[in-house]
Amino acid sequence: MALLLRRLKDCTSFGSTEGDLIPTTPRVTTSAGDEPVATVIDGKSIAEEIRSGIAEEVCRMKDTIGKVPGLAVILVGQRKDSQSYVRNKIKACQEVGITSLMAELPEDCEEDEVLSAVSSFNDNPSVHGILVQLPLPQHMDEERILNVVSLDKDVDGFHPLNMGNLAMRGREPLFVPCTPKGCIELLLRYGVEIMGKKAVVIGRSNIVGMPTSLLLQRHHATVSTVHAFTRNPKEITREADIVVSAIGVANIVRGDWLKPGAVVLDVGINPVEDLSSEYGYRIIGDVCFEEAVQVASAITPVPGGVGPMTIAMLLSNTLDSSKRAYGFS
Ligand code: GUN
Repeated sequence: MALLLRRLKDCTSFGSTEGDLIPTTPRVTTSAGDEPVATVIDGKSIAEEIRSGIAEEVCRMKDTIGKVPGLAVILVGQRKDSQSYVRNKIKACQEVGITSLMAELPEDCEEDEVLSAVSSFNDNPSVHGILVQLPLPQHMDEERILNVVSLDKDVDGFHPLNMGNLAMRGREPLFVPCTPKGCIELLLRYGVEIMGKKAVVIGRSNIVGMPTSLLLQRHHATVSTVHAFTRNPKEITREADIVVSAIGVANIVRGDWLKPGAVVLDVGINPVEDLSSEYGYRIIGDVCFEEAVQVASAITPVPGGVGPMTIAMLLSNTLDSSKRAYGFS
């Protein structure tokens, strides 16, 4: 936390301080002082648009075949962040008419209990998507559990076969992981060209960084990965036309890490102490927004940027899965 707070302070002390395509061209607007400032990418309203399209499709499915999509969520343990993510996912399902089922298991449960929860959802024909909230407790073998999720219900896209197909040319995964898919959707909807561009992805997690790099490559970007052992992250990032940061360190990407005109997607969700806020903390991204907005041509805010897209893509994957299961188009 001390490191995070220091980064936050450094940044503020600088006098500045995270379907169907409807492409729109990014606008470079001008501030009162005639400083160019980036377009702020409104992930919240795009996600709302996508969710309302999904709600319409769920209605049409119900009216036509009398079925609705179903999502099963497995939550192990009491992590506050995971509980909050899962709550938001279940609420989003309710809002669009997707049925949700939930298996909550204690932190100290046996791995076999998680495996049997997955198996019973695999066997349930009204479940079209299964999500095992990560991270799992330390004593569990994540790989073994994710391997058991039925390939055609793997709405997170974390099964090694879906991930492998995402990585291989000429192959199609049944599902693409939600946050990376949301990032690409934002770029496409804002009319950002990806083909032939230089992209840098900061972070290489299985959930976000690695699949985002793979997806950008599928869209024909030239992709570099920056991670904890990268010697010159600033110089590499400064080369990029598109920067996606998913490293989980508050304000690590400063204005001088960016090439002027770069498009910046901030996936970071970092709590920092803020005694003036109701809960004593607030959430900020990996990117020092106030500096970056002066350099980039477009940037996602935190909150309200990539975050809402993750849930929209989860709903979209669940809808697609149910359509596939029922042969409904
Ligand atoms: N933990 C953090 N992000 C995710 C996600 O997208 N899916 C799952 N299952 N767990 C997560």
